[in-house]
Amino acid sequence: MSTLRHMPSTPPSQHRSLQGKAALVTGASSGIGREIALELARRGAVVGVNYIGKPDAAQEVVQAIANEQGKALACEADVSKAADVTRMVSDFIKQAGRIDVLVNNAGIEEESPFLEKTEEEWDKVMAVNLKGPFLCTQMAARSMAKTGGGTIINISSVHEDLPFPGYASYCAAKGGLRMLCRDLALELAPHKINVVNVAPGAIATPINLRTLQDPEKKLALIREIPLGRIGEPSDVAKLVCYLASDDASYITGTTVVIDGGLMHQTGSL
Ligand code: BGC
Repeated sequence: MSTLRHMPSTPPSQHRSLQGKAALVTGASSGIGREIALELARRGAVVGVNYIGKPDAAQEVVQAIANEQGKALACEADVSKAADVTRMVSDFIKQAGRIDVLVNNAGIEEESPFLEKTEEEWDKVMAVNLKGPFLCTQMAARSMAKTGGGTIINISSVHEDLPFPGYASYCAAKGGLRMLCRDLALELAPHKINVVNVAPGAIATPINLRTLQDPEKKLALIREIPLGRIGEPSDVAKLVCYLASDDASYITGTTVVIDGGLMHQTGSL
């Protein structure tokens, strides 16, 4: 019995499991990205909080991390612009000393019937959701290849696989991200860089505010989820922290779905 007294309440691997690592999270000023940034910092990582536009929300995330004795810095960039990404990643490496983890989280979605979709909408969704991960991954991986490896985590969606009428551009971009993950996992493996997709289902974030604010639509969505609830950003953030840690070093080239069972529900969406 006496040995029990000496056992820690949580396994050591969950404490500060990212101590010494530097992680850059795109689109980290709100929603899932914000929670990922907070959670990575809680486990000891130095975190880059990428944002676009006004700095206020990103600075709030940096402050929230500092309040918990974590380390973070705000990193402005439009992830769809090569010059922005080059500047952001090199500034982050200069300040944090290295980059071990990149979380490609920035994403947008637009709903419109396919017959009415515009070229502008298509280009915008593709630029942020697919070109962004290409640019950020290339910059981060060039550094990781020199420093002995790292982890790229793409926040994809159940819609990398599951059709979603009205969201053709979003589905095409996420489907592309699924293939990018599988392809890069092979190409970057010799550099000890792991590439993993996380595919959330319905998570309570600003991206699906319209559904969540409409009681009928919200109820219909919950009925599609076997676990009977909409996910929280923290559900996704905890998974990302595990994937970013050394405990997940044998995982690459695959998608981890986190959707309360949504994808397996017959007739879903
Ligand atoms: C989308 C949400 C949608 C969810 C489940 C996510 O990828 O961003 O709008 O509710 O998938 O369909």
